[in-house]
Amino acid sequence: MDDFVIREWNRIAISAVARRGYFAVAVSGGKTPVSLFRKLSEADGKLPWDKTHLFLVDERIVPYSHPDSNWGMLSATLVKPAGIPAENCHPILVEDPLPEISAARYEKDIMHFFGSRPKDVPAFDLVLLGIGEDGHTASLFPGNQAVRESKHLVAAVILDDARHARITLTLPAINRAGNVLALVSGKSKAGIVKRVLLQRDRHLPATLVNPVAGDLIFVLDREAAAELPVDMTREITVERDYLQRP
Ligand code: 6PG
Repeated sequence: MDDFVIREWNRIAISAVARRGYFAVAVSGGKTPVSLFRKLSEADGKLPWDKTHLFLVDERIVPYSHPDSNWGMLSATLVKPAGIPAENCHPILVEDPLPEISAARYEKDIMHFFGSRPKDVPAFDLVLLGIGEDGHTASLFPGNQAVRESKHLVAAVILDDARHARITLTLPAINRAGNVLALVSGKSKAGIVKRVLLQRDRHLPATLVNPVAGDLIFVLDREAAAELPVDMTREITVERDYLQRP
């Protein structure tokens, strides 16, 4: 999985930099992408980090030092090892007492970066998503009002007491991306992958990811794809030395 994603990341980054001078990517947290981020950081100078702008798809409202912090994980696995310049990093600020303020601030940061007018929906070149066993993606959880957000790029997500409040990109922001890669691994996800991809269960936020003009690829390992019909999947082997130079 990781090799395919790195090859796509490389291809999309080089194309974006050639087209508009930068590569804007938003990544998810969770466990699945940790090995990917570590491998990306070791891609020996073949990725244009100086022109890469790294955003988060979502964040838990905890200090970056907290084990559940997505930015904390991303800093340790990619930002620091790859030496991504601070001015290219766009974390979600989590100090505000009200999640709604953090959400509005992140939305302002995104709009400012892309130079968007108030009604524009900026287009990330790449959005990396994961899918939870309940069919959530980003921090868009089944039945939560953030799933229905249609005007803002970013929303605050208040869950139950046991779980951290979160900030998330909304479906309009995700579905405007030029490329969306959904990374799913492990047999515990096979059931939800079937409900999303085969049954198209629209109660699940992951099913609602549908880029208006961009490409959507579900990158699954064999275990996560186990309940899909074979003709629905394409096995990909990535040739050696697949990274192009910027
Ligand atoms: C988060 C992620 C979330 C994640 C899924 C899958 O901050 O929790 O953005 O959407 O991608 O929960 O997580 P795993 O990769 O750990 O299964």
